[in-house]
Amino acid sequence: MPIFAPTPENLAHCARILQEGGVVAIPTETVYGLAGNALSTDAVELIYTIKNRPAYNPLIVHVPDVDRAKSLAASWTEFAEQLTAAFWPGPLTIVLPKGPEVPDTVTARLDSVALRQPNHPVALQLLHASGLPLAAPSANRSMAVSPTLPEHVIESLGEDIPVLDGGPCRVGIESTVVDLRGETPILLRPGIISRHELETIVGPVGSPSASEGSTAKPSPGMLDRHYAPKAQVHLFPTLTDAHFHAVLLGSGKKIGVLAFNPTKLKAEEILLPANPAEYAQRLYASLRTLDDAGCGLILIEEPPHTPTWEAVHDRLRRAAK
Ligand code: TXA
Ligand code: MG
Repeated sequence: MPIFAPTPENLAHCARILQEGGVVAIPTETVYGLAGNALSTDAVELIYTIKNRPAYNPLIVHVPDVDRAKSLAASWTEFAEQLTAAFWPGPLTIVLPKGPEVPDTVTARLDSVALRQPNHPVALQLLHASGLPLAAPSANRSMAVSPTLPEHVIESLGEDIPVLDGGPCRVGIESTVVDLRGETPILLRPGIISRHELETIVGPVGSPSASEGSTAKPSPGMLDRHYAPKAQVHLFPTLTDAHFHAVLLGSGKKIGVLAFNPTKLKAEEILLPANPAEYAQRLYASLRTLDDAGCGLILIEEPPHTPTWEAVHDRLRRAAK
């Protein structure tokens, strides 16, 4: 049952589920989301329960267009105007002061709201068909790897939730999150839209830790281990370190490897492309493959420490915590 082709009938059916306060897993260009009516406290609470998500971690509200985003924010800034013109629909989430229409449960009682217009035809069709802004965290249990295929959603959340099939996610890691409330935009979560790309539009972009005196706090959900497979994860800078870790940590465990070139380790090995966007697109599915193969230890070759790899480094660091 639960995977539905995005036919007009199925979209109408899913829109109805959302209007009645239920949840639907939806494709976006980044990862699959678990969507519910953002204006319904009950629907939002259902999302938290299904994900087993801590109540302090707010949700992103997905909108069909910029006007709907404006109506959900208490104020709309020049930065918001510029960034949405440049990147929406797309993998960019903006944080603004929360408008009165947004229930406190969505924002975990913060006075800000995170907004995004996704760039996926199925998500956009459902936003229009339902006529609702949709709260949608990634469609996995809290802390686990985000789903990039419909099958991943079912693995994570079981057979009870309808999943709209939008194929494999094109981006593969979650959206860039940027707080636009202060004098300087603050990058809360790096993503495939890089810091550099943001800076070409709005000038210098700060980091939460570097924003001394700013009101921007780190994203509440960004403090923990996250995006993590079941296996223990270890990063290795060189092949020598990989062999060292395998001996030190691997005893009795099946070892998985994510690397750019063959390591010659006795391991389940997946080779990934040395291009950040292609790497990101395949990262989560690869971690799942190694988990499913029963690996107890996953060794990951560290990508280059250059700005274009910032988002991938962020996810790897969190997976390895
Ligand atoms: O690509 C994505 O953003 C996906 C797809 C489904 O759109 N969604 C996603 O949602 O990754 P989630 O819930 O897994 O991550 C949302 C992030 C969390 O780190 C959360 O703390 C942050 O956005 N966030 C949400 N509202 C916020 C707010 N008002 N202030 C600061 N951070 C916020
Ligand atoms: Mg998530």
